[in-house]
Amino acid sequence: MNHPAMQGLNLNTPSYVKHARLIAWVADMAALCKPDTIYWCDGSDAEYQRLCQQLVDAGTFKKLNEAKRPNSFLANSDPTDVARVEDRTFICSAKKEDAGPTNNWMAPAEMRATLQPLFDGCMKGRTMYVVPFSMGPLGSPIAHIGIELSDSPYVGVNMKIMTRMGRAVFDVLGDDGEFVPCVHSVGAPLAEGQKDVSWPCNKTKYIVHYPETREIWSYGSGYGGNALLGKKCFALRIASNMGRDEGWLAEHMLILGVTNPQGKKYHVAAAFPSACGKTNFSMLVPPAGFEGWKVTTIGDDIAWIKPAADGKLYAINPEAGYFGVAPGTNFHTNPNCMASLDRNVIFTNVALTDDGDVWWEGMEKDSGSLPAHLIDWQGKDWTPQIAKETGAKAAHPNARFTVAATNNPALDSAWDDPKGVAIDAFMFGGRRSTTVPLVTEARNWVEGVYAAATMGSETTAAATGQAGVVRRDPFAMLPFAGYNMADYFQHWLNVGKKLEASGAKLPKIFTANWFRKGEDGKFVWPGYGENMRVLKWMIDRIEGQGQGVDHFTGVSPRYEDINWTGLDFSAEQFKSVTSMDKSAWLKELELHAELFKQLENHLPKELEETKAAIEQRLAA
Ligand code: GTP
Ligand code: SPV
Ligand code: MN
Repeated sequence: MNHPAMQGLNLNTPSYVKHARLIAWVADMAALCKPDTIYWCDGSDAEYQRLCQQLVDAGTFKKLNEAKRPNSFLANSDPTDVARVEDRTFICSAKKEDAGPTNNWMAPAEMRATLQPLFDGCMKGRTMYVVPFSMGPLGSPIAHIGIELSDSPYVGVNMKIMTRMGRAVFDVLGDDGEFVPCVHSVGAPLAEGQKDVSWPCNKTKYIVHYPETREIWSYGSGYGGNALLGKKCFALRIASNMGRDEGWLAEHMLILGVTNPQGKKYHVAAAFPSACGKTNFSMLVPPAGFEGWKVTTIGDDIAWIKPAADGKLYAINPEAGYFGVAPGTNFHTNPNCMASLDRNVIFTNVALTDDGDVWWEGMEKDSGSLPAHLIDWQGKDWTPQIAKETGAKAAHPNARFTVAATNNPALDSAWDDPKGVAIDAFMFGGRRSTTVPLVTEARNWVEGVYAAATMGSETTAAATGQAGVVRRDPFAMLPFAGYNMADYFQHWLNVGKKLEASGAKLPKIFTANWFRKGEDGKFVWPGYGENMRVLKWMIDRIEGQGQGVDHFTGVSPRYEDINWTGLDFSAEQFKSVTSMDKSAWLKELELHAELFKQLENHLPKELEETKAAIEQRLAA
């Protein structure tokens, strides 16, 4: 089949694709974007190797030393294209109110008119890859399918790792199945004979979602969540809309299993903002003092959570790989992650060693010293001396690895189970150097929703803009909620109410903060594997055994309520990560009030009431 506007361009539709509506859409998009050729990804290993070699030939990839890092590659992005662009991300619902005050909005017709000239001819001189993918196990009732059209082969190979990508998706789709259409262009058409650059992109960027028609259009960036459209765009922004309509939750959460020495297993879903420790926590290795305990990974970034007939909430990880932060990762902080990275990895924006391996800040903790020489993420020479003089980082702070979940030695046996795992507790954690204590248990669902809704966190390098400023990041979903944040709070309250009405025992809700700093500006809490001590207290509470003290926002452990075996952490230090300063909390509540003011049009009254109750307790 060919489109009249395609002027002879062959669609190259494989014979196994029988979906007329899909084929017509590909033809329409090809007519708009005007690629030189169209290539349908089959998801095979041979195709992956071929595309990687093509990326090596184009200068986008460097093949790493096969003896040190088998079948692995390094990409250096354009220095202006290194993270998600939140200020260029749009939720184009029909009504502005439905996007809400925390999202950028433009009327759909106006956005379509804006994008039309940008996409017109945007793939000239390039190949349009048709990337079929499933979020969730192929063919499972909880999975959803997307088709990404992209002019970036880097996107193709990353999607192969991050999703169930390939030909089998068309078997599931049949001749009329539902899919989310995702159009992506780096926005860098090539004129006849023009030589390509190693990381094409455009300084104009648009990451656009139409929630009502469930469409995604992304222009100008080749990096991460801007370009791998199954991840934040689909699995969070579009899926949160699906979840609201259908009664389930799409969350920025890791999912872990934790098994005690008696063999009893619990499941925790935890939301932390970008680059605040989800990957890390999901792969936790229990420290000394926790012999016989085991933590296993179901997911490290996104959870789809659905109520089941038994009154429990079941969570699945819709992804198949990890797109994780490299800097700070080492054998002390995350040994399971380091083990995952020993083969078949795509690294982006880390440094290259003289022997063809990778390096990033934090690895010196393993080797005991800095390397004498590197090529940094921008292709420049790096030495410890240069770093000292200029502060130059060898790896970009948002440098990432892309790796298959199956590389993870701590992978949970149920990670791929379409049924998902029953959630026993939710956790919400921000990056706060002051004010917020190590861990707090909400006394009920509404108090938990309040704590999650009002969470603040210091911004990180995962998004462009200023890092290190405290902002409200409700549910760690500020950049990812695909509709009005106040309606999203209501949806969480509704899910709880419905389960409670059915007589179900709701998961407990905890908030955590690993990031309190001392006078010296250093983290006081040792973090990483030691976070197990907090996890254990949470499980004690689930079992109705752990002790704690009631305070104005919930219940927190006393020093003696935590197992300290194997760790030298004084009562004094504990106090400095758990103390709650009254004047700091009065200021904190002003920030809650600011958020509520911003969201006042749709804000659930239960949250106002919870705030008033906290204020009353604080005044008492
Ligand atoms: P996204 O993939 O951006 O959503 O982030 P993430 O939440 O998965 O972040 P990740 O686990 O990759 O952590 C990013 C940064 O947090 C790294 O620099 C880690 O070293 C640091 N980090 C993780 N856990 C801890 C902890 O317990 N304590 C401290 N101080 N830092 C931590
Ligand atoms: C995040 O920023 O939360 C990420 C990375 O997980 S990205 O896929 O780029 O959004
Ligand atoms: Mn994330």
